[in-house]
Amino acid sequence: MPMTYNDFKQLGMRLDMSRGKPAPEQLELSRALLDEAGTTGFLSRDGIDCRNYGHLLGLPEARELGAAFLEVPVAQVVAGGNSSLELMHDALAFAMLFGVPGGEPWRKQDDIAVLCPVPGYDRHFAICEALGIRMINVPMNDDGPDMDFVESQVASDASIKAIWCVPLYSNPSGAIYSAEVVRRLAAMPAAAPDFRLLWDDAYRFHHLTDQKHSTLNVLDACAAAGHEDRALIFASLSKVTFGGGAMAFLAASKRNVDWWQQRVSVRTIGPDKLNQLRHVRFLRDRAGLERLMECHRALVEPKFAAIAAAFAEHLGGLEGVTWNAPAGGYFISLYTPPGFAKRTVALAAEAGLVLTPAGAAYPYGRDPDDRHLRIAPTFPTLDEVRLAALGIALSLRRALEEI
Ligand SMILES: Cc1ncc(COP(=O)(O)O)c(C=O)c1O
Repeated sequence: MPMTYNDFKQLGMRLDMSRGKPAPEQLELSRALLDEAGTTGFLSRDGIDCRNYGHLLGLPEARELGAAFLEVPVAQVVAGGNSSLELMHDALAFAMLFGVPGGEPWRKQDDIAVLCPVPGYDRHFAICEALGIRMINVPMNDDGPDMDFVESQVASDASIKAIWCVPLYSNPSGAIYSAEVVRRLAAMPAAAPDFRLLWDDAYRFHHLTDQKHSTLNVLDACAAAGHEDRALIFASLSKVTFGGGAMAFLAASKRNVDWWQQRVSVRTIGPDKLNQLRHVRFLRDRAGLERLMECHRALVEPKFAAIAAAFAEHLGGLEGVTWNAPAGGYFISLYTPPGFAKRTVALAAEAGLVLTPAGAAYPYGRDPDDRHLRIAPTFPTLDEVRLAALGIALSLRRALEEI
């Protein structure tokens, strides 16, 4: 007899799968960062004493590493603290309070809006909500946001100041922006002269297949289109080394970097250069990073495969139920028929399995169709993931039976 939802409930599972965190084994891959911390010392290549204040834009070799990773000129990269989300928050807070190059402080306008391709990253939306920025849902395709919609909105509405973009292995749809989409984003006319692409390249190195996808260089595309200042690129090593102790980067035009320097000099006297030095010595170069990412892939890929296998076995053929098979990143999107996502999450919770709240991937937490679930397979063990996938499938089946 196949397992039922009630059987699953009897197992008394206790698992929190709500966030896309690296698993402990992934963190262990960078253990040397801790074990060799003492041997790294505190003197940089050029003799900078990393224990002391200063170097607001980051240690020179940390900026060089960032430039190699992001394929942009060193002078256009800032190496910061551990979190790229923090950089995104500050960029928007600075824009609201002081404006970005080429514009007035955003707060001077009655209405400020940001385009949000959906489903998207809940913490992007939380920043907008906290700062009182209106969010406009944008339909998302496999090759990026619906560009006809984006272009018409941005060209006609000066209150739209930016768009969130996760160009590679988007959270949570797995979308990969095509070259055509990147070119159109870079070139489209904008009613707001200070319009920005908030380019969150969080999953740039997080491949799950042999094909290492990449996206068009957005700084080059913007410069080629005469919009040199349009893109602000954010990235970090949070899911390369330590989620809570890595290094984040901001890359942008020279004018944007100067703006950033001016604004951030009020906020800090300099980043944690000791951690930056440790990361430079540990990763060394792009090849070092790619080797490490292969080790991550070996741990993560079987978990994605386990979810796909369980869904195919238990949900295959159900009308209106689909899921994606991302080529990278940290998430799988599961779509229920309209109106069943919240109920599925509730039933899973009753069986001891905590999922990301339904609707989390939409501005204000509202999925208009109540059909999207974000599945985060990385943190639990492989056995737990197998069981959780079964639990999700059985919870959805039970929800569908209730009508
Ligand atoms: C799209 C995206 N951006 C940023 C982050 C967080 O980045 P950081 O750890 O650098 O703050 C995440 C984490 O899940 C993410 O999915």
